[in-house]
Amino acid sequence: MEIDKEAFLRSQGGAARLQRMNPEAKADALEEFMLQQLVDGRVPRVSDIEARIETRPYRRGVGNLFFSAGGNVKRLPPMPARPTLADFFRLRFAVTSNHVLQSAHLAVKNNVPEEIVLACLLHDVSQELIKVDHGWWSAQLFEPYVPEQTTFAIRYHQALRFYEDAAHGYKYPDLYRYVFGEDYRPEPYIEATYKMVRGHKWYLGPRLVTVNDLYAFDKNVNPSFEEFTDIIGRHFKQPVEGLGYDDSPVAHMWRSIARPDAPL
Ligand SMILES: [Fe+2]
Ligand SMILES: [Fe+2]
Repeated sequence: MEIDKEAFLRSQGGAARLQRMNPEAKADALEEFMLQQLVDGRVPRVSDIEARIETRPYRRGVGNLFFSAGGNVKRLPPMPARPTLADFFRLRFAVTSNHVLQSAHLAVKNNVPEEIVLACLLHDVSQELIKVDHGWWSAQLFEPYVPEQTTFAIRYHQALRFYEDAAHGYKYPDLYRYVFGEDYRPEPYIEATYKMVRGHKWYLGPRLVTVNDLYAFDKNVNPSFEEFTDIIGRHFKQPVEGLGYDDSPVAHMWRSIARPDAPL
C-alpha cells in the first residue's frame, strides 16, 4: 500500500508532530488514517468523498500553512530579511520538506538529470500555500528561478500522477482510490493536459518526477537539504533581494508563504 504522505501528515497535524511519535504510534496513526478513509468497510466512492465536504471547517484544497487539523495553528519563526530557498525549507516548508527531500534523494540514486532532480526537490512545496492544482502553483512559484525543463516537470507531474506508465515503472497510486474515490475520473483539463504532455519531447521530465514521488514516510533515509546544495547552486537563481522581495511576478506568492498571518 502506497501512502498519500501529504494527506496523512495533514490528518496528523503536520510532520513535526508526527516526528515526535515513536514507530508504534506512527503505525497506529497510519492504520487509523486508512480506516477513516473507508466507508462501511469499503473504499470510498466519489459521492462519499463529496459528502465529507460539509463535515470539515476547512476545504481540502487549503495550504498546510493556513490551517491545523489538530488544535490551533502555531506561531511561526521569523524569516530573515532576504530569505533564500534554504530558509523557506527550514522555516516554512514543515509539512512538505521531508517528502520532497526523499523524492530528490531517490532521483539522485536513479541517475536522473540534475534539472529533474531539482524538479523532484521542488514539486510539492506550493502545497504549503494551496493544495488544489499544486503542480501549476509550484511551477509558477519557481518559474523565474529555474530552467524551463524543471518548470515543465514540476507543472505536469500533477496530471501524470493519474496515468500509469508501465514502461517507466509508474503505477496508479493505491491511495488515490481512498483520497479521490475508487470511481474517480480526472477532470477534462487534466486528461487534455496528460495527452499533450504524453506527446511532448519533454515527457520524461514530469514522468520521472512521478516515478521518484516517494509516498512512504517511514524510510530509514532522512536526506538533508545540504545534500542538494551543488545542484541548487548550478540551477537555482537565488535573487539577491531575497525570495519575495525581488519584484518578480511571483514575489507575492513567496511573501504569502513567509507571512501567512498577515490579515491582508
Ligand atoms: Fe505532487
Ligand atoms: Fe510528491
